[in-house]
Amino acid sequence: MNKTLENTLLAAHSASLASLQETVQNCHACLLSKGRTQTVFGEGNPNASVVLIGEGPGQQEDETGRPFVGRAGKLLTEILASVDLQRDRDIYICNVVKCRPPNNRAPLPEEVKACSGYLLGQIAAIKPAIILLCGSTALKSVLGIATPISKVRGQWLETPFGDNTLAMAIFHPSYLLRNPSKEPGSPKYWMWQDMKALREKLNSLKAK
Ligand code: URA
Repeated sequence: MNKTLENTLLAAHSASLASLQETVQNCHACLLSKGRTQTVFGEGNPNASVVLIGEGPGQQEDETGRPFVGRAGKLLTEILASVDLQRDRDIYICNVVKCRPPNNRAPLPEEVKACSGYLLGQIAAIKPAIILLCGSTALKSVLGIATPISKVRGQWLETPFGDNTLAMAIFHPSYLLRNPSKEPGSPKYWMWQDMKALREKLNSLKAK
């Protein structure tokens, strides 16, 4: 793609994401809006090939307005860096719900539903080649798959967003914090296999 076209597309993506973000900031479609300090829309490169979707903001995310900045986020940043993915350069990170659920519980189906248009809007604006579904809430909310992550992780899954967008379910970093072993067969071991598969897929897409 030539540079001018690339810059024009980037500006268009940023504009549609910015207006969506403004809508989210004023959203009161579900009760989560009552407990938030602020919304956590998402951040990263709006032109990235990879969108990572987590569950919902925790305390630090609610306080800062940024996704994945707490302990789980720091681990996630390290995991991505291990395959040369930089958060601000190579990936866009967001969550299924944009407001913090109380006591970090999983979002309720009606909360997921109230927020789903925003997530779909983000995916439509970014048009990623790869969606990483981080944990079972993201897998269920985006693809309607209720199978445990341990059974589906690491597979390239078709998505409703077209042939050019594949998804992979991966363990949530909070789960890895609770399961620190790196032994073969452990969640951390499988996360490493999944990151290597992601890196290979990105390299093959670049080579096309
Ligand atoms: N867990 C999530 O799923 N998302 C965040 O932003 C932080 C923790």
